[in-house]
Amino acid sequence: MRLNKKYWNERYLNFQTGWDIGYVSKPLKAYFDQLSNKDLKILIPGCGNAYEAEYLHNKKFINTSILDYSNIAINNFKKRVISFPHSNIIEMNFFELEESYDVIVEQTFFCALAIDKRKLYVEKMNNLLSKNGKLVGLFFDDVFDNDGPPYGARKEYYFNLLSSYFNILTFEKCYNSIDSRVGNEFFCIAKRK
Ligand SMILES: C[S@@+](CC[C@H](N)C(=O)[O-])C[C@H]1O[C@@H](n2cnc3c(N)ncnc32)[C@H](O)[C@@H]1O
Repeated sequence: MRLNKKYWNERYLNFQTGWDIGYVSKPLKAYFDQLSNKDLKILIPGCGNAYEAEYLHNKKFINTSILDYSNIAINNFKKRVISFPHSNIIEMNFFELEESYDVIVEQTFFCALAIDKRKLYVEKMNNLLSKNGKLVGLFFDDVFDNDGPPYGARKEYYFNLLSSYFNILTFEKCYNSIDSRVGNEFFCIAKRK
C-alpha cells in the first residue's frame, strides 16, 4: 500500500475518515487552554480538517500553521475557517518542510505514516523544533492489526524511538481522552534535546 497524497485524497473524497472526530481533541484543548503565550509558533502537521488549528485561531493564537499534502483536506479547511491566514496554510509533504517552531502538535499523524518512516518522523520533528521546542500530542497505545493505517505502538517502543532526539517530559495514559479512545492513547510532551 502506498501511503501518498493520492491515497489520502481518496480517503477524504470517499468519506473514509474514521480518524476525524469533528472537533478539537479534548486532551489537546486542555493543553492549549493552559498556554498563556499566544505568540508561540505552532505547527500542526498532517492536520486534516484541523479542528485544533481552528480552536487556536479562535483563541487568538496568532502563529499557528497547518500542514497537509492533501489538497482536499486543505481546501475543506480553507472553506470552513475563512479567516485563518492563508500564509499559515502549508500544502506540502511534511518531510520537505524547512522551518522552525516552538511547538509541534501530534494528532493521528504518526499513525498515518508507514512504519519505515518512523525514524525519519522523529528526525524531522527534531529538525523543525527550535531549541527547547516541544513535540506535544497523542500517540495510540495499540498495535492495530490492520492492512493499512492507523499503525500504533506500545510505550517502550515510543520511548526508544523518541529518546534519541527528545527528553520525554510526559508520556502517560491520557486521562481525558474522547470516549472512543479511552485507555487507548498516551499524552506526550517531549522536549528537543
Ligand atoms: C489520519 S489523518 C489525520 C488528520 C488529522 N490530524 C485528524 O486528526 O483529523 C492523516 C493526515 O496526514 C496527512 N499526511 C500523511 N502523510 C503526510 C505527509 N508526508 N505530508 C503531509 N501530510 C501527510 C494525510 O493527508 C491526512 O490528512
